[in-house]
Amino acid sequence: MFTLISDEIEDYCEKHSSKEEDILYQLYRETFQKTLRPRMISGHIQGLFLQMISNLVKPKRILELGTFTGYSTICLAKGLTNDGLIYTIEEEPELEYIIHKYLHQTPLYSKVKLMIGKALDIIPSLHETWDIIYIDADKTNYLNYYKILLPSLSKNGILLADNVLWSGKILNHPSSDDKETKALSEFNEYVQNDNNVTNLLLPLRDGIMIVQKI
Ligand SMILES: C[S@@+](CC[C@H](N)C(=O)[O-])C[C@H]1O[C@@H](n2cnc3c(N)ncnc32)[C@H](O)[C@@H]1O
Repeated sequence: MFTLISDEIEDYCEKHSSKEEDILYQLYRETFQKTLRPRMISGHIQGLFLQMISNLVKPKRILELGTFTGYSTICLAKGLTNDGLIYTIEEEPELEYIIHKYLHQTPLYSKVKLMIGKALDIIPSLHETWDIIYIDADKTNYLNYYKILLPSLSKNGILLADNVLWSGKILNHPSSDDKETKALSEFNEYVQNDNNVTNLLLPLRDGIMIVQKI
């Protein structure tokens, strides 16, 4: 994984941030042992960041696109209100076992609605107002997700989109013909020109676009 900071600084930050919960540590380990692309997992620092955002917003409804093994799902779910729910969409059915295995070991299990399938197929069936939306699925659809979902984001609600620096390749656009770089660049430009939101591109890990609906 590309990082904007040195390994030493990253290590220091980890050591001076709240300790990773044991269940998340186990999930992280099993993700590296059992999945083909383990580096997709958000991990300790980004997970804590998501948890803090969720704790601040106190959301009733969260939508996550791209569950992978459920690390970020658990972190986001921690801030839900008592009657809150997180809907999380993952296209790979083989990941279901590990997601359930770890969710079952948390008190958050009943608050998580895992939906297996393609996000663009499932989103139209969801009739909710979202307090947090976390976009972390296929990069080529980021702008589609944004356009479809912004109307259902609550006023002052938060939308987060991960990997918007794309390992620094974002700086190569427009000369790059890589379709993901191109799509992420179009997404970043669109958000930057959207007068309906306040946005911050935070250089955390692979870049997180944070959008608040005005
Ligand atoms: C970067 S990973 C998600 C990481 C996870 N949010 C975390 O923080 O640990 C992206 C996930 O999105 C899934 N995905 C890709 N395209 C998708 C789509 N069209 N619909 C739903 N899930 C998709 C992939 O299978 C993969 O598990």
